[in-house]
Amino acid sequence: MTAINFDPLSTEFSKNPYPAYARLRKADGFSWFAPHSMYLVSRFDDVTALVKDRAMTRTLDAFRTSAEIAKQKRADNWHDMPYHSRFVQFSMLDSDGDVHDRLRQQVFQFFGPAPVARLRDSLAPHINSLIDAAVSTGEFDFVEGLAAHVPGYTIGLLMGVPIEDCARIRRWSEQIVQYFDVDRSDAKKQLAEQATKDFYEYLQGLAAERKESPKDDLISKLIEVERAGEISHDEFYSTCMLIVMAGHGSTLDVMSTGLHSLLRFPDQMQLLRETPALMKTAIQEMFRFESPLPFFHRYATTDVVINGVAFAAGTRFGLLYGAANRDASAFAEPDKFDVARWPNRHLAFGGGAHFCLGNHLARLGMDLLFSGLFNKTKSIELLGDAPIYKSGLGVRGLKSLGLSVEAI
Ligand code: HEM
Repeated sequence: MTAINFDPLSTEFSKNPYPAYARLRKADGFSWFAPHSMYLVSRFDDVTALVKDRAMTRTLDAFRTSAEIAKQKRADNWHDMPYHSRFVQFSMLDSDGDVHDRLRQQVFQFFGPAPVARLRDSLAPHINSLIDAAVSTGEFDFVEGLAAHVPGYTIGLLMGVPIEDCARIRRWSEQIVQYFDVDRSDAKKQLAEQATKDFYEYLQGLAAERKESPKDDLISKLIEVERAGEISHDEFYSTCMLIVMAGHGSTLDVMSTGLHSLLRFPDQMQLLRETPALMKTAIQEMFRFESPLPFFHRYATTDVVINGVAFAAGTRFGLLYGAANRDASAFAEPDKFDVARWPNRHLAFGGGAHFCLGNHLARLGMDLLFSGLFNKTKSIELLGDAPIYKSGLGVRGLKSLGLSVEAI
């Protein structure tokens, strides 16, 4: 088993993680990453097998005493965070088996292709007016000036969060999500805890309003479910927070890298402009090419043998979705950005029991944004210096993306 020299916090990695991912895949697929006591799994087949294996779980809590759980939390710097431990450390994403399935079942019906498609007509005018406002300036930052508002609109509409609150929610989401990465400094910890508290208090206010006057939204549905005793008070809030957080930064990030990929490969931008029917495959390719959530983990709950190598129960695996999605054994010419690529069964949304609930919603927001932008512009060009990528193992996205556009 290879111990690999791998620094996901380096500038070099954030600029371009793909050479490091290629080294990992070549090494032997499972590389011991000592600083975080886990095996990094980088090959498509291995990652696919692990996410589908029910013996691989998000936590080992069911197999540990409370003293062991407390010790682990201390080691991960996840301790002394009263709000975070109630509403973030516990969620559908961080539960397994029956608890996970029960929580997922309560909200599943809101996220299928049909209910999401029904949001299109309500969303389109909002997203089009965002695009009009940005395009009319001629030059703008695609990240802050346009794309950042789209996930708030889509998730807000589904959940029942008012548009004017989306900016606050995005800030809280970012402060919470950054603490899932490998950098667990005390400063980031404090931000994550405070953001969780603020978010909880905000959601309490919103839930009180919906209890008075329910609407046709996810929050109102969850209030009913809580009343019926299907979920607890804490589960209500952790589910709301998870849905809002999971979809915000990830969608924004893939919008930014997706457009950057089109700018880096102008023939693909041209092809997509000329053939709007390719939008569906182009979006699928954006997820594969620059997967916005490239890393998640699993624990082995039993002793396992993978590819002839034995791993003990309790082993932690770091699943590198971003590396698996560039594996030549699964994708022809994996480093080529190809808007017509099909089939394209990538792992950007994970797989198995935790397969992303929000994938149709993310696709809808991207479709409206990119189709609208193309319909309203003759040309889109990069403005300013090369854009800077966010750093970390768990995110892939741009800090900003200056554009110069010519309106139609
Ligand atoms: C670019 C967009 C998105 C990407 C790349 C993405 C990716 C993922 C991935 C990889 C997972 C599985 C994590 C694991 O393997 O442990 C996941 C789970 C999840 N995602 Fe997404 N996601 C996106 C957008 C959304 C949106 C818009 C929502 C909701 C509004 C959402 C809600 C969720 C939820 C609730 C889970 C947990 C599911 C479970 O544990 O059963 N995601 N997402």
